[in-house]
Amino acid sequence: MTSGKIEEIKLQAGKDLDCVKSLQELELFRIKYLGKNGLLTELLKSLRNIDPSQRPAFGQAVNLAKKEIESKLTEKKVEFENQVLTKKLSEKEIDITLPGKRIPRGKKHPITVVMEDLVKIFRRLGFDIAEGPDVETEYYNFEALNIPKYHPSRDMWATFWLENGLLLRTHTSPVQIRIMEKKEPPLAFVVPGRVYRRDDDITHSAVFHQLEGLMVDLDITFGNLKGVLTAFLHAVFGKDKKVRFRPSYFPFTEPSAEVDVECSSCNGKGCRLCKNTGWLEILGAGMVDPNVFGYVDIDPEKYSGFAFGLGVERIAMIKYGIDDIRLFYENDLKFLRQF
Ligand code: PHE
Repeated sequence: MTSGKIEEIKLQAGKDLDCVKSLQELELFRIKYLGKNGLLTELLKSLRNIDPSQRPAFGQAVNLAKKEIESKLTEKKVEFENQVLTKKLSEKEIDITLPGKRIPRGKKHPITVVMEDLVKIFRRLGFDIAEGPDVETEYYNFEALNIPKYHPSRDMWATFWLENGLLLRTHTSPVQIRIMEKKEPPLAFVVPGRVYRRDDDITHSAVFHQLEGLMVDLDITFGNLKGVLTAFLHAVFGKDKKVRFRPSYFPFTEPSAEVDVECSSCNGKGCRLCKNTGWLEILGAGMVDPNVFGYVDIDPEKYSGFAFGLGVERIAMIKYGIDDIRLFYENDLKFLRQF
């Protein structure tokens, strides 16, 4: 064995490689030279037959030749792969006139849309946004709102009671207390949130949404309440609609009012939606009761305020002409896609 043999193989490999025309042929080339019984592999196996003194030099020379052939092979392989890719790309033209596949997109739930619209109106009027927990204590949901235990007005809210005196809030009014405990007047907040009552028919759901409002400052009067809520109702239902304030009762406001807007379906003439009254009842409201200020250490001699609450589902039902509240919660896509 001599290094001449190595040179000979290298030379032959160079010639062979020049003749290789495809990836398949390249694989045959690899097997011929570098495979288990390949020419170079055989050469390495013959190492044991040569003079021990020459083995290291010979071994090195064979390995070097092997590396050279390997790197040429890789080069060739990349070349072929690029050729194949270029060919594929030129053959498979993309037809950009074909219509694409439409991916169905989700949308906001109508209740979310209406809630956001209502909040936006109050933001324009200078109100900030606050939130509170769905699981409340008796103190925040009732007591601090001037509704003592065993007071008959507790029956206004059919309550889901939890363990340890906790409950699912029956209205967003407890957040009034949480705001006033933490912050000093002037205050102007709206509170969007989910509320819970043991109610269930075509216009009442056990879970629904309210928007609460609270404004406290020096010299806040019932006139401010009327002004803000009239502006709000005009923004929702249109400036042409009449608004009326009827005396009512809530334990946490004094005086209290129920606020109606002229029926948007019949313009006050009387129809099914307004039960022939010509009016739609939208809001509960009133001046914050001095007893409530007492619970949160705000001086009722110095400050006054008003509060209001409304049901978001009710407004959405009126706005979209929906007569069954359950449609909002069934998640029927045929219903939801209409908004
Ligand atoms: N919390 C009352 C309700 O749910 C609504 C309300 C809020 C009334 C604020 C007056 C003032 O019925």
